[in-house]
Amino acid sequence: MEKYIINGGNRLYGSVEIQTAKNSVLPVLAATVLTDEKVRILNVPNISDVKNMVKILTRLGCKAVYDGNDLVVDGSSADCYEIPSELAHELRSSVFLLGSVISRFRMAKIAYPGGCDIGLRPVDLHLTGLKKLGVDITEENGYIICKCEKLRGTEIMLDCPSVGATENIMLAAVRADGTTVIKNAAREPEIEDLQRLLNLMGAKVRGAGSSSVIIEGVEKLNGCDFLPIPDRIEAGTFLVGAAMCGGEVELNRVCAENVSSLLHKLRENGCKISINNDKIILENHKRLTSVKSIETQPYPGFPTDLQAQITALCCVCRGHSIITENLFETRFKYVPELRKMGADVTVINRNAFVRGVERFKGATVVAHDLRGGAALVLAGLAAEGRSEILDISHIDRGYGSYEYKLRKLGGDIVRVSV
Ligand code: UD1
Repeated sequence: MEKYIINGGNRLYGSVEIQTAKNSVLPVLAATVLTDEKVRILNVPNISDVKNMVKILTRLGCKAVYDGNDLVVDGSSADCYEIPSELAHELRSSVFLLGSVISRFRMAKIAYPGGCDIGLRPVDLHLTGLKKLGVDITEENGYIICKCEKLRGTEIMLDCPSVGATENIMLAAVRADGTTVIKNAAREPEIEDLQRLLNLMGAKVRGAGSSSVIIEGVEKLNGCDFLPIPDRIEAGTFLVGAAMCGGEVELNRVCAENVSSLLHKLRENGCKISINNDKIILENHKRLTSVKSIETQPYPGFPTDLQAQITALCCVCRGHSIITENLFETRFKYVPELRKMGADVTVINRNAFVRGVERFKGATVVAHDLRGGAALVLAGLAAEGRSEILDISHIDRGYGSYEYKLRKLGGDIVRVSV
């Protein structure tokens, strides 16, 4: 077990390189099973979710080799369609493999997935979509068992625009007979990125980024080299950190359009933000003013994955805010921890009611999930005094070299074994 020790109060100055997007790399890794040629993923982030996905691919018989920061996956030797529970429980994204494994082997057996404990995360939309493509699905002893003779293109209307279900259905449909249309598809940039990869592999996919994704099935997919988009959530986290601690931070290799809902709120708060191609510079030297309300929504709305970070920022702004979480019901587990740091915030159902205080005070707090954990670190950096953040393995799931990057900006943060 490891923890962070933080001496808060330093302003953040300097530049930071944004990693490739976790939520793009994970479905891209799942897609590598669709071909028996090599797929090279460039600049893969050094995070445990990727390492766990690689473990699963290896269990399936794929060969995955790091070449510097790139990861080369060779699916030619894949010979197994079962994902055991100890691996699936480590990583919710293992469920994306259903689509590609069934496409490759006409069979798949996967334990119910794990991932962040942020409330009920059902997979019913994934399964309904796969059934419509002709997959026969049974559930037995905690395993989902899929079989099919043939995958057949069809029209699938999602009850809600689920990111994972959209991606999983795309992965299954690329090699199906005929055309599949996903309606009410999620519009997240990572879905467009998956389309870009699949088309480089020889698939015929269009419409990603809109609510209708159209996939014409092809016989065979080939290998390719692929650079995923920058991680908009990591970028957003550093922007909020700079806003909270004060200073001037430049993010490199970032797509401003993909974080525009956050930039809009930060400007409303009083931050000075400039954009120059793939750079964003945020400058702030004063206590910010609260934004009245923020609601999480599917893209292009405010992302649920930045909800904890922006709530932490609101806690030290001047004035009141209401933050509403519309996607995951228990995504406020970090709130009692922020209260230990002096925040005045109360959660009622899906709403966090925040009254801004002057500053956080250092405290020992526990990271309960990935984004909540990242937000606690930012609060520790902004706080007066010393903080300890426990259970940081949650943070390692999605942030590569988090403390190195923060230290480079001037944050006083170290990782310690306990
Ligand atoms: C993905 C992201 C995650 C982000 C989330 C929302 C990855 C690896 N993870 O997660 O970081 O927080 O999008 O932007 O990309 N739902 C159902 N049934 C289903 C599937 C989902 O009811 O079968 C509901 C969920 O409970 C939730 C909503 O749909 O309320 C959105 O979930 P979804 O978009 O599927 O999130 P994930 O793909 O799990």
